[in-house]
Amino acid sequence: LRTAILISGRGSNMDELIAAARAPEFPAQIALVLSNRPDAPGLAKAKAAGIAVAAVDHKIYAGREEFERSLQIVLETYRIDFLCLAGFMRLFTPWFISQWRGRILNIHPALLPAYRGLHTHERALADGVKIHGCTVHFVVPEMDEGPIVAQAAVPVLDGDDAETLGARVLAQEHVIYPLALRLVASGAVRVEGNRVLGALAES
Ligand code: GRF
Repeated sequence: LRTAILISGRGSNMDELIAAARAPEFPAQIALVLSNRPDAPGLAKAKAAGIAVAAVDHKIYAGREEFERSLQIVLETYRIDFLCLAGFMRLFTPWFISQWRGRILNIHPALLPAYRGLHTHERALADGVKIHGCTVHFVVPEMDEGPIVAQAAVPVLDGDDAETLGARVLAQEHVIYPLALRLVASGAVRVEGNRVLGALAES
């Protein structure tokens, strides 16, 4: 499975996916790292790791559709057949998602359906929840929705701030994203409605 990782920033999840996919029996190959920000630190890391990189700067396009058509051309050029969003900070139109339905994963730093959107760790702390975590899910047109492939839970500790809690969650993101990609790419899971059967729960 020729997989592209889409990033906007530092790319720590990207690093883990690249590392996991180096294993000879891994069912997906990272064929491209693509960023909407030409200066994303993750791009340099991917390049150093010997992965093909590309940037499609959303700021130079008149609208979302034009931006996505460029993305699509790059993805076709590299004969990509699967996408992993890893800190990719642009929303897609239903048109783009429909091109990739069932072939696009995202990681979100919360236990969905709780805390969709941004600032998940701050909001979890403000609510006083005792369990927080992360989710890998298939992407659908609605933001932070879609069938859940993997989740990991972490405790919220008394002394936590957004940074310490976020670091604890991120360590789990790094565990479940490669596992989720392996499950999906190997065909070990199957989607039934909004459920992924054979999915993964970690704590
Ligand atoms: C992660 O917390 C991910 O869940 C969120 O954005 C962050 C990206 O981090 N969507 P990185 O670029 O993978 O280090």
